[in-house]
Parts: sequence; C-alpha cells; structure tokens
Amino acid sequence: MKGIILAGGTGSRLAPMTKVTNKHLLPVYHQPMVMYPLQMLMRGGIKDIMIVSGKGHAGHFLELLGSGNSLGIRLSYAVQEKAGGISEALSLTEDFADEESVAVALGDNIFEHDPDMSDFSSGARIFVKEVSDPERFGVADLNGDKVVSIEEKPRTPKSQYAVSGFYMYDTTVFDKIRKTSPSERGELEITDVNNMYISDGKMEARTVEGFWTDAGTIESLYRASTLVKNSHLHEI
Ligand code: G1P
Repeated sequence: MKGIILAGGTGSRLAPMTKVTNKHLLPVYHQPMVMYPLQMLMRGGIKDIMIVSGKGHAGHFLELLGSGNSLGIRLSYAVQEKAGGISEALSLTEDFADEESVAVALGDNIFEHDPDMSDFSSGARIFVKEVSDPERFGVADLNGDKVVSIEEKPRTPKSQYAVSGFYMYDTTVFDKIRKTSPSERGELEITDVNNMYISDGKMEARTVEGFWTDAGTIESLYRASTLVKNSHLHEI
C-alpha cells in the first residue's frame, strides 16, 4: 500500500498567511499541518508516501521533510499546476502507485484516532462522521453499513454523515478518475469517483472515532489547534 497526501489548492481562505507559505505548512498547535496526515500514514505502516502540492511554495515541503530519510520513510513529490480538484491531484500519482492500493489523506484533515487501514485488499473504503454542518462536505446516504450514494455539498443533506478526507482505493481508482468530468466548481470531484465504487458494489464505510476536523479556514484552523492541544495528539 502506498500513501498519498493531497496538499494542493491555493489556500485563499487562509490569506494572507498563505501568501508566504503553503496552507498545509501552517501551524496546527505544535507542528505544521501536513505532519498530522503524514504521521497517520506512518502509523498505518506505510513507508512510501507521495505529497502532491500546488505550485505555490512547493519547495517548502522539501525544506521541511526532505527525502523522508530522517523519518524512516521514502517521500516523493508531485506538483499540481492548477487547482483542478482532489481527483485530478490524485491522478498525478498513478505511476507512483504502480499498481498498488493507495491510502489517500487530504493534507488539511486531522483525525484524533487513526482510521482503520487494516485488511484492505480491493474496492474502496471511506470514513464517515456525524456532524452538525454536513452541507460543508460530501454527505453519505447510508442504509445500515451500506453507502447508498454520496452527494457533494448538498443544500438539503440526506444525512448528518460527512465523508472525511481519508480514503482507501484499489488500483482501479485511476481508470475511474479518467471517466469523470469537471463539476460546476470546475474540479474533478472525489465524490464522483466514490459514487462509481458504490455503483460497482465495492464501497465500504467505516465511522471515524474521536474528533475529525479540517483546517482550511481561519475558524477551523483555530479549532484544530485547540482540539490538538486538548488531545493525545499534542504529545506526538
Ligand atoms: C473535500 C471533498 C468532500 C470532503 C471534504 C473533507 O471538500 O470534496 O467530499 O467531505 O474534502 O474535508 P473540499 O475541502 O474540497 O471542499
């Protein structure tokens, strides 16, 4: 299994801080944001990880993390030229994945407890969490453990279950991305890819234990720091 951290985007909602560095390198309590998904993948036993960043300040990732040698992992880097969405960023990792399954973490998502990465062989696995503001996320319509469909930022959500920014995919994910087209916001949506796995009957949903937050706005960045401070994560 290879690991992928998607750290693209312009970080416009965190301006002016993102004028001088990439959003995913801003501090969340005691360390740069990207360290959280990185450590999560490492704890999952993944040693080969690719970071996909946008063009702005891409070199800063190299300065922080280098080859990954000091962390005992191998890091690779790719650059997404334009903000074309999560799936487009993921498509850049096809050669790196090299026919292996991938564990994909959005660089601005922080989980209190690690998602269960064990026993994954094929299909896809997503992690959902009940939230009070599902309209901000991909929302899963569930029937027991089964995902019926996912809607990206629906006006009237069918449930309170947000789809978090951690996904596991088998190698068919890249063919699925090729079959998607840009959404209204001009991006290749990960939700469209997830819905293809659902139609194939190959999607599994697990719940997120403990807190889960993104950190891409001033408010959520601040909240993320507070959550980390008050959890075991600040000891890592
Ligand atoms: C993305 C996904 C969305 C998911 C969210 C998690 O949204 O499109 O389905 O729930 O990440 O953070 P975005 O951050 O691109 O608005």
